[in-house]
Amino acid sequence: MLVSIAILTAGTAVQVHALEKRQSFNQSLPPIITLNGSTIENPTAYSTPFVLNVEDMWDLFIGPVDSPSLTTTVQATPVPSSELIPPPPLYYSPFPSGAQYPTEQKNESWSFPKDFWWGVAGAAWQVEGAVKAEGRGPSVWDVLAHRVTNFAYENGTADISDNHYYMYKQDIARIAALGVKAYSFSISWSRIMPFGRGPVNQLAIDHYNDLINTCLEYGVIPMATLYHWDTPLALQDTYGGWLSENIVNDFVEYARVCYAAFGDRVDHWFTVNEPSVFCNQYPLPAMYFKNFTIPNIQQPFYCGHHVLLAHSQAYHLGTSMMSNSTIGWKSNGGYKVPLTNSSEDAEAVQRAWDFTEGWWSDPIYLTGDYNDNVKAFVSDFLPPFSDQQKTAILGSADLYAHDAYTAQFNYAPDGGIAACVANSSNPLYPACANTTFTYSPQDGGWLIGPASDPLASWLYKATEWVPPFLHYIKDTWAKDLPIAVSEFGFAEPFERQKSYLQDILFDPIRSSYYHDYMRAILIALSEGVNVVGCLAWSFVDNFEWASAYGVRFGMQYVNFSDPELPRYYKASFFEYKSAFDIYQEK
Ligand SMILES: *[C@@H]1O[C@H](CO)[C@@H](O)[C@H](O)[C@H]1NC(C)=O
Ligand SMILES: *[C@@H]1O[C@H](CO)[C@@H](O)[C@H](O)[C@H]1NC(C)=O
Ligand SMILES: *[C@@H]1O[C@H](CO)[C@@H](O)[C@H](O)[C@H]1NC(C)=O
Ligand SMILES: *[C@@H]1O[C@H](CO)[C@@H](O)[C@H](O)[C@H]1NC(C)=O
Ligand SMILES: *[C@@H]1O[C@H](CO)[C@@H](O)[C@H](O)[C@H]1NC(C)=O
Ligand SMILES: *[C@@H]1O[C@H](CO)[C@@H](O)[C@H](O)[C@H]1NC(C)=O
Ligand SMILES: *[C@@H]1O[C@H](CO)[C@@H](O)[C@H](O)[C@H]1NC(C)=O
Ligand SMILES: *[C@@H]1O[C@H](CO)[C@@H](O)[C@H](O)[C@H]1NC(C)=O
Ligand SMILES: *[C@@H]1O[C@H](CO)[C@@H](O)[C@H](O)[C@H]1NC(C)=O
Ligand SMILES: *[C@@H]1O[C@H](CO)[C@@H](O)[C@H](O)[C@H]1NC(C)=O
Repeated sequence: MLVSIAILTAGTAVQVHALEKRQSFNQSLPPIITLNGSTIENPTAYSTPFVLNVEDMWDLFIGPVDSPSLTTTVQATPVPSSELIPPPPLYYSPFPSGAQYPTEQKNESWSFPKDFWWGVAGAAWQVEGAVKAEGRGPSVWDVLAHRVTNFAYENGTADISDNHYYMYKQDIARIAALGVKAYSFSISWSRIMPFGRGPVNQLAIDHYNDLINTCLEYGVIPMATLYHWDTPLALQDTYGGWLSENIVNDFVEYARVCYAAFGDRVDHWFTVNEPSVFCNQYPLPAMYFKNFTIPNIQQPFYCGHHVLLAHSQAYHLGTSMMSNSTIGWKSNGGYKVPLTNSSEDAEAVQRAWDFTEGWWSDPIYLTGDYNDNVKAFVSDFLPPFSDQQKTAILGSADLYAHDAYTAQFNYAPDGGIAACVANSSNPLYPACANTTFTYSPQDGGWLIGPASDPLASWLYKATEWVPPFLHYIKDTWAKDLPIAVSEFGFAEPFERQKSYLQDILFDPIRSSYYHDYMRAILIALSEGVNVVGCLAWSFVDNFEWASAYGVRFGMQYVNFSDPELPRYYKASFFEYKSAFDIYQEK
C-alpha cells in the first residue's frame, strides 16, 4: 500500500511518498483508496493531500516512543573528589621479549604540544534520547529502530538512551572534572528543522545554545558535527535523502542556520561523519522508506556524490560566515595491511584505500575528482563533476580528521582482482578487496590484536599500526594540513554481561587500547606528523546503532535500566587522562 501525503507547514509544502506495509502500522491509518468499491490497481497514480504536523509524523511512521521520567534540564552538581582517584595498576607489562614493550618509564623525547586538544566525542542520536521532545522530527534511525524488526540488537531504541538531552550539564561537568579539553557533539538536524527543510525550531536552537554555553563555562572547547547519520525522515521519504541531489541545498541551508546560531562560539566544525558508513547503508531496508529505482549497488555512490557536493558547499559557506573556524569532515576506515607480499595483495590494499578513505579524500585533498578506480565504476551512471564543482571540492577542508579505530589485512578476492572487476555479481565488487583480521597461515594465523566485543566484529586492538597509519594520511592526503584522530575507542568484550559495578569499571583491554594509542600518537608526533588533537569515543556508554545497547564504548558507565542514575568513570578514562598529565606541555 503506497501512502502518498503532503506535509503542509508554515507556508511550505513537502511532498512525502512513503511505502509502508499496511500491517506494520499500529496507529490510525489513512483510508484505503478505493474506486467503485475495489482497491485501485495503480495506487501510485493517486496522491492524497494530508496536512501533517510533527506529532502526526511520529504517530504515522514511528508509533509510541518511551519517555524518560526526567524531562527538565538537570543542573550539574560538583563531582566529588572521591570519584577522581585513579585506579591501581591495571595490568602487568609483558616480559621484555620480541616486539613487546618493556616496563614503561617516561620517554623524554615525547610530548603533546600545549595546544593539542584531547577530548571526547558523542553523537546526537546515540546519547540524547528525548526523541520527541520540544518539536524534534523523526529521523531515519527512529524508523529503523522502531519499525524494522531485529534491525537493532534486542529491538533496542534510542528513545531515552543516556537522556543527555536533559543531563548535558552534569555530563559536561564530569568530563571537565577530569580535565578533558574538548567535547565533540553532533547536532540533530531534525531537531533544528523537524522536516529537514522549512521551519526552524527555536527550542532546539535554545538547547544547543545552552549546551555550548555550558561547555564554555567549564572551559571545554565545543566541537560540532552537523550530520551524524540521522537523516530527517521527511527528506528520506520526500526524495530519498542522500540519494537525491535535492539534499545538497537542504544540507547547506541547515548548515547556514547552525553557523548563524552557534558560529559566534563554536570554531571547530565537521560537516558529515563517516560517509563510507552511512552511504554504504543504502539501500535502506525495503518497505519502510520511499522506494527507489536506482540499482542497489549504485546507491552508495549517488550518496557519496551528493556528500561531496553538500560538504564542499557547506565548507565554503562556513568559511565565509565564520572568520576563525576550522571546518572539516570525518573520514573513517582501518589501516590497510597487505595479507601477503604478493603484488595482487598490494593492489587489493590500494583498491581498499580508493573505495574507502580515497572515495572522498582524493577529491577533497588531491584533485577535486574521484580516483581512477572509483571513476571507472561510477562514470557509467553518475554525471561528471563540472569544473566549478571540482574547484569547490578541492581544498574544502582545513584539516584531515580521521576516525581511526583499528587495522585489518587486505587481499585479493578468490580468482583474482581482474576477474572480480569484470564481474558485478562478485560480492566484493566494485572494490574487489577482501578483508581479514588474522595473519596469513604462513605468519602464524594469529589475530591482528585482541578482539573487542563480538557485536563490534569490525574492531580489534591494533594500536601498533597507528604510527604508520598517521604517516600514510600525512603523505597521501593531509600533506601540510593538520591531522586529527576524530574518533577512536574500544568495546570491552562482553561488558554487557557484567552486573557487578566495580567489575564493569575495571576495563583492562580498553585501558590498554588508550594507553598504547596515546603512545602511538606520541611516536608519530616525535617523527614529525602534525597531529593536533584526538577525540575518544565515547564519554558514556550509548546506543551503538545496530548493536544498540549490546556493546559498550563508554569511558563512563551508564545504567540503562535507569539512565538517570549517576554515571561512573571507568579505569580507561584515567588511563586516557594520564597520557596528558605526563606528556602534555604545560
Ligand atoms: C499498539 O500500540 C498500543 C499502544 O499505543 C500497544 O498497547 C499495543 O501493544 C501495540 N500493538 C502492537 C501489535 O504493537
Ligand atoms: C466507476 O464507476 C463509474 C460509474 O459507474 C464508471 O463510469 C467508471 O468507469 C468506474 N471506474 C472504474 C475505475 O471502474
Ligand atoms: C524483536 O522483535 C521481534 C518481532 O516483534 C521478536 O520476534 C523478537 O523476539 C524481538 N527480539 C527481542 C530480543 O526482543
Ligand atoms: C576570532 O578571533 C578574534 C581575534 O582573535 C576574536 O576576537 C574573536 O572573538 C574570535 N571569534 C570567535 C568566534 O571565536
Ligand atoms: C519496493 O521495493 C521492494 C523491495 O525491493 C519491492 O518488494 C516492492 O515491490 C517495491 N514496491 C514498489 C511499489 O515498487
Ligand atoms: C615474500 O615473502 C616470502 C617469505 O618472507 C619471501 O620468501 C619471498 O621472497 C617474498 N616475495 C617477494 C616478491 O618479496
Ligand atoms: C574472502 O575471503 C574469505 C576467506 O578466505 C573467503 O571465504 C571468501 O570466499 C573470499 N571472498 C571472495 C569474494 O573472494
Ligand atoms: C561472478 O560472480 C558470481 C558470484 O561470485 C559467480 O557465481 C559467477 O560464476 C561469476 N561469473 C563469472 C563469469 O565468473
Ligand atoms: C542498574 O540499575 C538497576 C535498577 O536500579 C539496579 O538493579 C542495578 O543493580 C544497577 N546495575 C549496576 C551495575 O549498578
Ligand atoms: C622513546 O621515544 C623515541 C621516539 O619515539 C623512541 O625511538 C624510543 O625507542 C623511545 N624509548 C623508549 C624506552 O620507549
